Order: sequence, then C-alpha cells, then structure tokens
Amino acid sequence: MINLAVEVAGIKVKNPVMTASGTFGFGREYSKFYNLSLLGAIMVKGTTLEPRLGNPPPRLAETPAGLLNCIGLQNPGVDAVIKEEIPWLSQYDVPIIVNISGHSLEEYGEIALRLDGVAGVAGLEINISCPNVKHGGLAFGTEPQMAADVIRTVKDKSKLPIIAKLSPNVTDITEIAKAVEAAGADAISLINTLLGMAIDIKTRRPVLSNIVGGLSGPAVKPVAVRMVWQVARAVKIPIIGMGGIVSAEDAIEFLLAGASAVAVGAGNFYDPLAPLKVIEGIKAWLEQEKIADIRELIGAVKIC
Ligand SMILES: Cc1cc2nc3c(=O)[nH]c(=O)nc-3n(C[C@H](O)[C@H](O)[C@H](O)COP(=O)(O)O)c2cc1C
Repeated sequence: MINLAVEVAGIKVKNPVMTASGTFGFGREYSKFYNLSLLGAIMVKGTTLEPRLGNPPPRLAETPAGLLNCIGLQNPGVDAVIKEEIPWLSQYDVPIIVNISGHSLEEYGEIALRLDGVAGVAGLEINISCPNVKHGGLAFGTEPQMAADVIRTVKDKSKLPIIAKLSPNVTDITEIAKAVEAAGADAISLINTLLGMAIDIKTRRPVLSNIVGGLSGPAVKPVAVRMVWQVARAVKIPIIGMGGIVSAEDAIEFLLAGASAVAVGAGNFYDPLAPLKVIEGIKAWLEQEKIADIRELIGAVKIC
C-alpha cells in the first residue's frame, strides 16, 4: 500500500493534489465530470466581503505556453459563499479551503471572522496579491511588513489554519515568506500569477480590458519551482506549490523542491480531469520507483 496522505497546516489530506483558487469556481461545474471527494483539497474562488462583478471582457488571453487573466475576483461575496456554496460543497469528503481577498486590513479581518466556525471550512488561504487601497494600490504581498500585517489580522480573527498565498511579483520571495511565517501563517502557497501583457498587433491595443493580467500555466512552472525551493529553505512551515502543474511529473518536481502539497490551476481549463490524472500518475510513479510514502519526496531534491 502506497501512502499518498500528507498534512498541511494541520489539514489532513488523502493525497497532496488540490485545485488552485479561481480555476475551479466552487466546484459545481467540475462535479459533473468526477467525484470531488477524490481530490486532496479544494481551494475555492477568491472570496471578498461584498459581491464583485470582476473586470469587463476581454479578460482571458491565451499565450504560447500559458494563460493571461484579469478576471478581477468575480465572486458572490462571503455571505453568499457561506450560505450557498460551502453547504453544497460539504456533501463531498474533501477539505474546503476558502481563498480570501480584501482591499484593506479591516476587510480581510471581517471576512476571516465571518468564516470562522463555519461548518465544512477546513482553512483559509489568504491572497495577499490584492492592492491595498490605503497604500495607493501597492499589493499587500509585495512588502514584508504589509504581508505580515494581513496574516496577523486574520490570525487574530480566526481559529482556522491560515495559509498565506504569496505573489511572485517581488524581488526576494524569501523575505515575504519569512515575514508571514513570523506573523503566524500555518502554511504558504505559491505562486500566484506573474504580471504579464499581450498586445493585438492589428488593433495595436492590449488584448485584456485591464491592459495587464496574471500569467499562469506551463510558462510559469520554472519560476514557481525556483520560488518553492527558495522558500522551503527559508521557512519551517509547509508549502503548497502551484504554477503550471498539468502532469504527475510536474507535481513531483514541486514536491522534490520542497512542497508538501500541490495545486492544479490553469490545467483544469484544458483538461477538467487533470487533477485526477496527476493523482493517478503520482501513484503509478511511486509504485514504479518502489517508494512507499509520498512524504519521502518532500524536499528531496539533490543539490551537491
Ligand atoms: C482564471 C484564474 C483566476 C484566478 N483567481 C484567483 C483567485 O481568485 N485567488 C487567488 O489567490 N488566485 C487566483 N488565481 C491564481 C491560481 O490560483 C494559481 O495560483 C495560478 O494560476 C498558478 O497556477 P497555474 O499555473 O496552475 O494556473 C487565478 C488564476 C486563474 C488562471
């Protein structure tokens, strides 16, 4: 029997494969393709205090090896998520991690407070890539002090495990990682999308309504693996790695770099069954390599 179970931030998962926030909605569409209980965990769409419509279209653009998006945190708001989405998703035997976003510390705190104690919620993933309106739009996650302030605020309002989701749009990711660990984060997930831009050469206009957007998919994988490796050496808390994972081999790379679990994001769009294929592929690879426990892979990259 091969062990695929791991524990991240005190959340026990039957396998290390999750779905990345914003690429899986609240799971309803994917539930038509497979039994969601097969997943390690589900990270649901970014949730804000009030409902948000997101940015106007066009808000998706394909690039040669990735996807640019400027969805803009479209979501029904935390109260609707608590009332409609979590109870529905709770029918499945899978931990639900709610991804939250805010424009101010107060907003982050209020969302965390409302989700605290909600049946079925296993943890909070804190998206600190949002612009802080009080600091002139600078993203919380690009400055260690601001990142730490967000984590301290949500820790104070909630007893749930707190996972800090880091932005890769920084010079030194380890500074931010150490700051959120010191502020009490129970785990770190990375990476969020990399800022990118695409231009339609005929119209000479940006393809996205927002001009710039977040790049994800296979194009970002080497950046993500590098950041997971750097952060794994800088902190003691577990890491959920993501960025371009579409196969078991991709996921194994992240585990070797130091991730305790992984998430599939843009991969869900071109193959709704991608997370299941990653789970099955990891299992087959462990069997082939005669490795009895997936935990043996975590951080096992050989650097001489
Ligand atoms: C369409 C889309 C929407 C996303 N929405 C969110 C979000 O609401 N909150 C968040 O923290 N990350 C969001 N992300 C980032 C993903 O969760 C993930 O971190 C990133 O896409 C890297 O993984 P991937 O390369 O497998 O897509 C979104 C990504 C995409 C492609």
